[in-house]
This record gives sequence, structure tokens and C-alpha cells, in this order.
Amino acid sequence: MPAARPDSPTRRRAPLAASTSVSTLSTVLAAAALSFATAAHAAQVEVLHYWTSGGEAKSAQVLKQMLEKKGDTWVDFAVAGGGGGNAMTALKTRVVAGNPPAAAQIKGPAIHEWGDEGVLMPIDDVAKQDGWDRVLPPEIAAIMKYNGQYVGAPVNVHRVNWLWINADALKKVNAQPPATWDDFFRVADALKKAGITPVAIGGQPWQEAETFETVALGVGGAAFYKKAFVQLDDATLKGPTMVKALETFRRLRTYADASQTGRDWNMATAMVINGQAAMQFMGDWAKGEFTVANKVPGKDYLCVAAPGSQNAYTFNVDSFVFFKVKTPGVDKGQKDMAGLLMSPAFQQTFNLNKGSIPVRQDLDLSKFDACAKKSSADFKAAGAAGALVPSWAHDMVVSPAVEGAFYDVIGKYWSDESMTAQQAANRLAAAAKTQ
Ligand code: GAL
Repeated sequence: MPAARPDSPTRRRAPLAASTSVSTLSTVLAAAALSFATAAHAAQVEVLHYWTSGGEAKSAQVLKQMLEKKGDTWVDFAVAGGGGGNAMTALKTRVVAGNPPAAAQIKGPAIHEWGDEGVLMPIDDVAKQDGWDRVLPPEIAAIMKYNGQYVGAPVNVHRVNWLWINADALKKVNAQPPATWDDFFRVADALKKAGITPVAIGGQPWQEAETFETVALGVGGAAFYKKAFVQLDDATLKGPTMVKALETFRRLRTYADASQTGRDWNMATAMVINGQAAMQFMGDWAKGEFTVANKVPGKDYLCVAAPGSQNAYTFNVDSFVFFKVKTPGVDKGQKDMAGLLMSPAFQQTFNLNKGSIPVRQDLDLSKFDACAKKSSADFKAAGAAGALVPSWAHDMVVSPAVEGAFYDVIGKYWSDESMTAQQAANRLAAAAKTQ
């Protein structure tokens, strides 16, 4: 449910006493004029987002504080629910009612769908003034534009194909981080024997979809991934590599605990943080949770590319779009926010908390940890090798309708052992045709 909008505070005017002298009166009038000017410049910016876990909330706080420094007021419209499904439902309700929030966290093709509705406010003037084209990777700039104009402001690059590992758990079974799927299942067997849950997962459709996406990349490689999930090639979607990926994915289930249903992703990360489970497949927003828990990469936990996906990089870029709103003056706050989101200072502090890396390519990463540095190096290397792929489970490539249909297939396959891998592959191919 969207948070209630706080009513604007009613102002009480102090009545002027009859004996007020002219000089006092002019001081009062000057003060009133000043406060009117400030009020005219202080825009209320209602921001829809779904950053409610420990690391996420800290990151959202950075944005709120920086926006308020510009004299604008942040009106929080946080809708809990990892992956943003609940937030998107709440957004639709508000737009349909003709009362959209000033800003919303939206990604990928959905930006264009909202553009088609004619409800977005371009921020191209801010982008031109601040030279966004010069500092953004062109593929990402293209996602942010509608009809050639910027309507979205990107804040980060999250890598999705990570495996997070509790370092002590791995030591207990005297193992190295698994590089191949064979290694992975060997390590997982050893962990099971030692009484440690090998894989932490939350049984929610987007988490299952994300895990499958990562397995598919590791099993089939970047070229296969692109053919299947970017080009939606029918033969690839139901072909033998997809079947192998689905079989590998199903094997994972036997290494996860039985109480996964409905578990939030950050609760699964907490299991890895406290040693209850050894590993989690998750994008690097998980690192935000390790950071909040004061855990150190390389010592307390390890970040490695998921088995078989070392040379590839699944990207997930968070961004905000701005809606045309009726209240006069809000556009000032919206433009302030757009400029802020792409500013070097914001991108640095925000991403240190969020677990991602800046999307601006001109920033110094010396303050970032080893996982972020690896992410940045791998992003560049994968880009050069044609192995940079968009995350379909995180809204980056297929339409929201196809994404939802894929979620359904993967979720059913994960929980229903009677569905064969080939049947699931056929269903994926059918789901790709969803309008
Ligand atoms: C992703 C989003 C991230 C992260 C995650 C969990 O879709 O891009 O910023 O917070 O969901 O909610």
C-alpha cells in the first residue's frame, strides 16, 4: 500500500498588533516576502521507491538528505517488496487515478511504456547541461531516453550474476569458491554433510526467476543468453541448452531449506551473514546488507561470479523517471532530483551503501571495496567481449508482460516436480509471445 501523503502544514498568521511601528511592519513584510520566496522554491517531491531493507534504506536516505539540502522536501512513498513488483502495482493505481508521484523508481522497457502513455516529464535540459551523454555507456543512455529525450536518470549498475559465500562455512568444509557447476554441487554436498544449508533462497517469484537467469547464463554462456532472453528466439528457448539450464536449476532446490516460501531476499542474505546458510545467488544489493552488518569482503564473505559466468556480466540499472504533476512548482524539485541523481557526489555515496557501482564512467573508485572494483573491471571486460547482458528478471530487457509470464513458468517449475525441464522450456517459448 502506498504511504499516506502528509497534508501540507497549515500556516497560522500572527495578527499584526495595532501599535506595530512602521519599521517593525516593514521588517515583518520583508520576512514574509522572504518566506514566500523560500516556499516558492521549496518543492515537495513525492518519491516512489522500494528500497526498504537495511542497505537499501540507508541508500534512499542519502538521496533524501541530498535533495533536502537543495531546499526541496522529500515525501516518502516507499512500497516494500524486493524486485519492485508491489511498487509497480501501486504506481499504476496512482497514475490511473490521475495523481502520479513526482518521481518513481522504474527501469528498462517499462520506461518506454510509460513514455507511450504521455505521462512522463522530459529531463533533457538537465541531461544536456550536465553532459550525461559524455559519461554514460550508450546502451544505458538509450534506455533512459524516450523519443530521443532523456526521461530517466540512472543511478547505478548492479551486477546480478554473483554468488555470495560465507567464508567460515567454506573453510569448515575446506573448499574453494566453486568455479564450475560440478564444483558447485561438490561443495554443496560437503556443506550439507557438515549440517550447513548450502543455498539460501527466498521462495518469491522474482528470486526464483533471478536464480534461474543466473544459472542459465552460467550453463549456456552470454551468446545463448542473448539469443534466448534478448532476441526471444523460439528454438533457443525450448532447445537443449535451456533444458540443461532448467535441470541444473532444479538440482539447486535440494540444497535449499524447506522454509523458503515467501522469504524476503534480505532474510536469505541474513542467513548467509550469520552462517545459517553458506551461499546465495543474488545481485549486489545483497552486499548492502553485508555492509550494514559490518562484514568485510574477502574476510567474512566472498563475492564471486556464479559458476560458469566468470566472463559474463548481467546488468541491472536502477533509474528514476518523473511524472507530469498538476501542482505548480514541483518541476523545480524534479529537476533538482534529476541533476542530483547523476551528480558525482551522489553516485559515489549512494553506491557505497547500495552495493552497486556508479553508472557514470568517469568516477574514481578508490573508496570502493574489492567486490565493487571487480564488478567495474568485469563490466568493462564483458562489454568489450560482447558478454554484457541485461537482466530479464530485473526488468531490463523484456516487456513487463513477458517478464511476468516467465516468472510464472519458472515459479511453477521450481515448485512442481512433475513438470519436466522440456515442458518448462516449451512454456518459456510460449511465454515469450505474451503481448
Ligand atoms: C532490484 C533493484 C535493486 C534491489 C533489488 C531488491 O530490482 O534493482 O535496487 O533493491 O531489486 O529489491
